[in-house]
Amino acid sequence: MPIATIEWQNRKVKIIDQTKLPLRLVHIYCEDLRTLREAIFSLKVRGAPALGIAGAFGVVLGTQNSSATDFPSFRRELEEAIDYLSSSRPTAVDLFWALKRMRNCAEKNKHQEIPQIKKALQEEALQIMEEDKTRSRQMAKKGASLLKNGDRILTHCNAGALVTADYGTALGVIYRAKEEGKKVTVWADETRPLLQGARLTTWELLQAGVEVTLICDNMAGDLMQRGKVDKVLVGADRVAGNGDVANKIGTYTLAVLAKENEIPFYVVCPISSIDLEIPSGKMIPIEQRNSQEITEFGRKRVAPRGVKVYNPAFDITPARYVTGIITEKGILRPPYKETLKELGP
Ligand code: MRU
Repeated sequence: MPIATIEWQNRKVKIIDQTKLPLRLVHIYCEDLRTLREAIFSLKVRGAPALGIAGAFGVVLGTQNSSATDFPSFRRELEEAIDYLSSSRPTAVDLFWALKRMRNCAEKNKHQEIPQIKKALQEEALQIMEEDKTRSRQMAKKGASLLKNGDRILTHCNAGALVTADYGTALGVIYRAKEEGKKVTVWADETRPLLQGARLTTWELLQAGVEVTLICDNMAGDLMQRGKVDKVLVGADRVAGNGDVANKIGTYTLAVLAKENEIPFYVVCPISSIDLEIPSGKMIPIEQRNSQEITEFGRKRVAPRGVKVYNPAFDITPARYVTGIITEKGILRPPYKETLKELGP
């Protein structure tokens, strides 16, 4: 169920403004680095792989009008753009992975004329987007092999077509299973505080003709206890070298509940979400977000003024709760310290 989440059109980045969904399907056109960074920060474009693609195009926007005539000056502007984009959201490693690729591309081409370097950067960003489409399909195919006809899947946040240039991660597996003729139904966690599940996952699944039932986050345990969940499928913002997984806040709770109820818990993510430089989930930086996301509901204040708020966007699920990590190269099983290393760079 591909949705054109992010596109490169006439030297602009065209994205679906995900903050407006599901009520309105609105596109925005980012012509400059500042607008694109704001779109990332405010979650107009979101989800790990999409952040990588957006970051790559951000580098293109930040350098395409450069008037530098030599590589050292161009490099200074490039590094400024990379630093600026790096400061947008800290957890999803895909963003940093893509920025590194863009830097390497410029360095590889440093002996070319500046217009050629700019062209190479644009081609690299387009390449990152194309690769994302392919690996999305590969993950979906591998993951769908685990699903049985009649499976009831619980998912959290939104890990669908809106987080990639194509099929999605966790939801991609479901789309593929459907295409293979399996009847799969979905429980979608609403995903407080920003409701990516209620707003985005249900929107996507309904369009794709997948039966979906929306639940509040605190209903997942009850459903599992009643035997109504066969598998949990989630995405990841970053997987550490030991298999610990950073994903949307609430994922850890689900993983513990799944283990208690003997339900397989799968993480679906591309290899670009795996960070072998970080040996443990404890070292993954967790984004803290504005307190208004919790003190307000639908722009209406629901909590007393002056109350203290704790609002981390992500949590860490220790590797021992993860049944398998579905990547484009295959399904990894514990011990992750070994199986992740075998994937190579
Ligand atoms: O804050 P968000 O909406 O960007 O968080 C997104 C998630 O937590 C997704 O589950 C994650 O990026 C994996 S989807 C590939």
